[in-house]
Order: sequence, then structure tokens, then C-alpha cells
Amino acid sequence: MRILIIGGYGTIGKRVTEHFSMEHQVILAGRNNGDIQVDISDSESIEKMYRDAGELDAVICIAGEAKWAPFYDMSEADYQVGLQSKLMGQVNLVRLGAEYLPKGASITLTTGILADDPVPMTTSAAMVNGGIHSFVKAVDLEIKKGIRVNVVSSGLVEDAVEKYSSYFPGHHPIPMDKVVRAYIRSVEGRGRGEIIRIYE
Ligand SMILES: NC(=O)c1ccc[n+]([C@@H]2O[C@H](COP(=O)([O-])OP(=O)(O)OC[C@H]3O[C@@H](n4cnc5c(N)ncnc54)[C@H](OP(=O)(O)O)[C@@H]3O)[C@@H](O)[C@H]2O)c1
Repeated sequence: MRILIIGGYGTIGKRVTEHFSMEHQVILAGRNNGDIQVDISDSESIEKMYRDAGELDAVICIAGEAKWAPFYDMSEADYQVGLQSKLMGQVNLVRLGAEYLPKGASITLTTGILADDPVPMTTSAAMVNGGIHSFVKAVDLEIKKGIRVNVVSSGLVEDAVEKYSSYFPGHHPIPMDKVVRAYIRSVEGRGRGEIIRIYE
């Protein structure tokens, strides 16, 4: 398969890239690194990415940002970061992917446990994740050409424990191989419209 991984240099992305590179042709995309430069918060940049990438069998997005801050400090502009990047960035990957991707391709998005089990300071990140879950279920009812769209939603991953564990007291870190398997299930399985939750 020819697989485009957006965010393939990130904490989760590099593990997913390592796996798929063993058996597939992987094309990496990101804002600063990769074979293709893309900023998913800009739909023109996404369109250019699809034009430059050539024919793809699968797209995996493990990228997108949202502002973390106490609710009383969050301005409208702060919410806009998550809406433009993580939410509309991933929606636009599907919206434009529906046009550019061939029959039977798959698109795998990424959210996280905050959608179901938020922690303080995540009114934006949790909201955006929940929105993507609803979007994935709804778009599956209409998307054509047999294109499959799924989302991987994991808990705090082992490789990010040092950075984020203080925000997730008592949470059990998710082993990286378990996280990678969720992406394999989405790309190589037949599931569609699925929220693949890996919380334990
Ligand atoms: N870490 C966790 O424990 C965890 C758990 C569950 C869910 N998640 C979610 O998984 C995703 C990845 O997390 P991570 O910890 O792997 O993040 P990370 O280490 O910060 O990596 C993010 C990657 O995405 C790219 N990126 C960011 N914004 C982008 C944009 N607008 N356009 C294109 N590429 C962009 C970055 O590359 P450039 O800097 O080159 O753009 C980087 O390679 C996030 O959505 C996060 O919320 C993370």
C-alpha cells in the first residue's frame, strides 16, 4: 500500500511510521519535516498535499493542535486554535480526501481519551475530540467510493508519560504497540465509521 502519514515524526506518529514502513510505502507529511509539507489548519495546503502525493491507498493523520488552559482563561481565539487545526483540519482531510482518494482507500484520524474522560484544562481539546467522533460516524453514512473513515482514540501513551502524566492522575499509560495496533486495525481491517478506543 501507499500510505500517507501526517504527523509521522511525532510521538505517536514515529511509532506508527516505523511499523507501516516495514511492509508498505510510507510518505510522510508535516509542517516542518517530511516528504511533503502540509499545515492541516489550511485547506489549500491540504489540497496541494493531495495533488503532490499521487495515488494513495491510505491516509493517517496523527496531527492537530488544541489549546490547553483553564476554562476561565480560554478566549474565543483560544478555542479557534482547536477548531481550525485538530477539528476542521481533520474534517478537511476527509472532505478533500473524498475527492482525491481512489476507490477503497481509508482515512484514519486521531483524537484521544479526553472525548470521553476529560481532565481539567481541556474544554477545547475534549470538545474537538468529541466533535470528530460524531463526524466520523456521520460521514460514514454518506462517503462514496467505498472510502473508509475511522478514528483512533487512545489514552495517554507510554512515550508521552514524562510530558503529560501530571495531567492524568491515576491513568494507566497505553503501551505503544497497543496504540500502533489500533492504526493497523483501521488501515488493514474492513471497519468503517469506527471510533477505535484504546483506554486500558
Ligand atoms: N501523546 C499522547 O499521549 C496522546 C494520546 C491520545 C491522543 N493524542 C493525540 O495524538 C495526536 C498526536 O499526538 P503526539 O503526542 O504524537 O503529538 P506530537 O509529538 O506533538 O506530534 C505531532 C505531529 O503532528 C505534526 N503537526 C502538528 N500540527 C500540524 C499541522 N497543523 N499540520 C501538519 N502537521 C502538524 C507535527 O509536526 P510538525 O511540527 O512538523 O508540524 C508532529 O509531527 C494529537 O492529536 C494528540 O492530541 C496524543
